Amino acid sequence: MGQKVSAAVFPVAGRGTRFLPATKASPKEMLPIVDKPLIQYAVEEAIEAGATKLVFVTGSSKRAIEDHFDTDSELERALIASGKDELLASIRGIVPPGVACIYIRQGEPLGLGHAVLCARPAVGNEPFFVHLADDLIAGSPGCLAQMAAEHGRHGGSVIAVETVPRKHTSSYGIVAVDASDQDRITEIVEKPAPEDAPSDSAVVGRYLLAPAIFDKLEKIGEGAGGEIQLTDGIAKLLSEEAVYAYSFNGVRYDCGSKLGYLQATVAYGLQHPDTGAPFREHLKDVLSE
Ligand code: UTP
Repeated sequence: MGQKVSAAVFPVAGRGTRFLPATKASPKEMLPIVDKPLIQYAVEEAIEAGATKLVFVTGSSKRAIEDHFDTDSELERALIASGKDELLASIRGIVPPGVACIYIRQGEPLGLGHAVLCARPAVGNEPFFVHLADDLIAGSPGCLAQMAAEHGRHGGSVIAVETVPRKHTSSYGIVAVDASDQDRITEIVEKPAPEDAPSDSAVVGRYLLAPAIFDKLEKIGEGAGGEIQLTDGIAKLLSEEAVYAYSFNGVRYDCGSKLGYLQATVAYGLQHPDTGAPFREHLKDVLSE
């Protein structure tokens, strides 16, 4: 029923203030978890879900991201000369053939909704993914692939959600759903106080959106925090067409926060083939001290 989704938008123009000074000259999406930056995990998840057009909405420190996904012939030659085949493969396969990277500049960080609107000329009139790389989700298949399958079942827009403790509702977009209609969203509110929240179901950084969202984003003004909020655009969209909440299978790490970032590093470090066993031993020693 739903359409194939080929475009993925990565808004990477936020200020990342919670991670200063690390994010002073480099976007937070370039922070590594073990040996890959967050944005590479994001791109891999989108490609697994069928994306062939990767749209990066970048800000003032965009170079690191562009360089990361570009070919580095000098580095490749050096790795060939020193026979480091595995490392060579790890940098060559980042963007597979048939996948295009497009960079669009968001002149000022006016909010996530504004960042998504900046991607409009590259996305066109098709459903598309929005992926916030600082929400790292370990899942198999990945969260976007799960959402693409859900979209295939009933069409419409699909938004990933997770239950959060009520006291944390003011950090998220919060939704109310109609459980008798495949969890169709009936209300969405940005960062409500716990007493005003319509539920404890929080929006996380994965969206599959109908292109009608662009017209909505064009019309809304500043919302919470003086920013153009994607949540407010979605609130307009759901009064006209179906938007579904999707409880994904997987574990989410909020890598935009220091604690979430450390939790992800430990989880991925324990799984990694190079570091898993010795890191486990090291953690045992540290914890028994
Ligand atoms: P956040 O709410 O995490 O904001 O943005 P932030 O500025 O990046 O980080 P803090 O809160 O100051 O530490 C959610 C996502 O939206 C992007 C960010 O890059 C992040 O992926 N974003 C936000 C933009 O691309 N442009 C904006 O104007 C705002």
